[in-house]
Amino acid sequence: MGAGVLSDREALLHAIADQVGTPVYVYDAGEIRGRFRRLTEALAGIPHRIHYSVKANSNLAVLGVLRRLGAGADIVSVGELERALRAGFGAADMIFSGVGKREDELDQALAAGVGLINVESFEELKLLDCVARRRNTTAAFGIRVNPDVRTATHPYTQTGEEGMKFGVPLDDVPPMTRWAAGRTSLRLDAVGFHIGSQILNAAHYADGAARLIQLIAHLRNQGAMLRSVDAGGGLGIRYRDERPLDLEAYADAMRGLARTVGLPVVIEPGRFLVGPAGLLLGRCLYVKRTAGRTFVILDAAMNDLLRPSLYGAEHDLALVPGGIARSDALGEDETVDVVGPVCETGDFLARDRVLPGVAAGSLVAVLAAGAYGFSMSSSYNSRPRVAEVLVDGGNWAVVRRRETVDDLLRGERTLDEIA
Ligand code: LLP
Repeated sequence: MGAGVLSDREALLHAIADQVGTPVYVYDAGEIRGRFRRLTEALAGIPHRIHYSVKANSNLAVLGVLRRLGAGADIVSVGELERALRAGFGAADMIFSGVGKREDELDQALAAGVGLINVESFEELKLLDCVARRRNTTAAFGIRVNPDVRTATHPYTQTGEEGMKFGVPLDDVPPMTRWAAGRTSLRLDAVGFHIGSQILNAAHYADGAARLIQLIAHLRNQGAMLRSVDAGGGLGIRYRDERPLDLEAYADAMRGLARTVGLPVVIEPGRFLVGPAGLLLGRCLYVKRTAGRTFVILDAAMNDLLRPSLYGAEHDLALVPGGIARSDALGEDETVDVVGPVCETGDFLARDRVLPGVAAGSLVAVLAAGAYGFSMSSSYNSRPRVAEVLVDGGNWAVVRRRETVDDLLRGERTLDEIA
């Protein structure tokens, strides 16, 4: 949720914090719907299908919002398969991506009837062939290519360059499709790319599309009968002051791709749909002034939102107005680091910020935290994972209860128990 959302939602956020406790993730269903609509409108006239990338935020209720909008799902594990099924997605509306699918995962995907399995290596294709033959079925597969496109995003979220673990180099695709052509257990339905995440420049998509167009022409000369082309996800959003991806320019790249190859385009956005629709709400435990520095110590930490520690990601932060004013609150000119209680120097949510008005007891919102927030959270330091709340208009509901210490210990055995 953007900072603007806070001003008319402050009472709601205080009510959620008081009743559910903090830290807590809060998602706005209306914002998710609005973003889905914006993307659909930008792609109007282009035959396309949006497969929401479940990994961005895999809460069942969030998945439900996207399913009701008509999205398909992009999954990467049997865990995500199960989540998507429980949220009501049909298996035929799912794409199974991922660089290291296990044999049992391929088998479960075929058993469930997953619509498309995107393979990322010849070895995986051969394994899929074995699994499909054993099941006496035909596996519809796609090939994720590595188009060798460099994206200007964080090194950890680049995926489309030569030498990375992802995708199949363009030149290695034709031997795979020739091998698959003679087999009743395999049917090549799609080729595609996913070139990275938090992409702000639409030219990268046009570059990737140009490579795919050449490849598709080549495959058709070999007799391939494709049903769709997959342009992955990666659509970038505004976290602080970035210029978000130009949706019109993005749509132009997708239109060019769809028209040239005469196929519907499948896209797999995650962050774009849910990132700006969520925030992480924490409470300030202490303002600690030490050796010339000021730390705002929240009850939320790197285990709840890993992005700042892992990527140096910068999320906007805001004080939720309406708390008790304190005379020792931070001023306009005090620069602070916002940190959590975890025992790591890398445990910070933001550095070098000004947060006037914040004092112990204040509610602080970390904005645009709806994507890769809870889904990447852990229980490091034996901190139970936080609650998740879905707001829809004036209503809200807890859509994942806060974990308890018993939840954390479930499945473990003491030394005495194994003796
Ligand atoms: N399709 C595939 C094959 C992917 O690997 C991903 C994301 C997506 C679609 C969706 O990408 P999106 O539209 O959300 O950018 N944890 C990182 C992002 C990692 C993305 C991994 N793959 C972060 O917090 O920035």
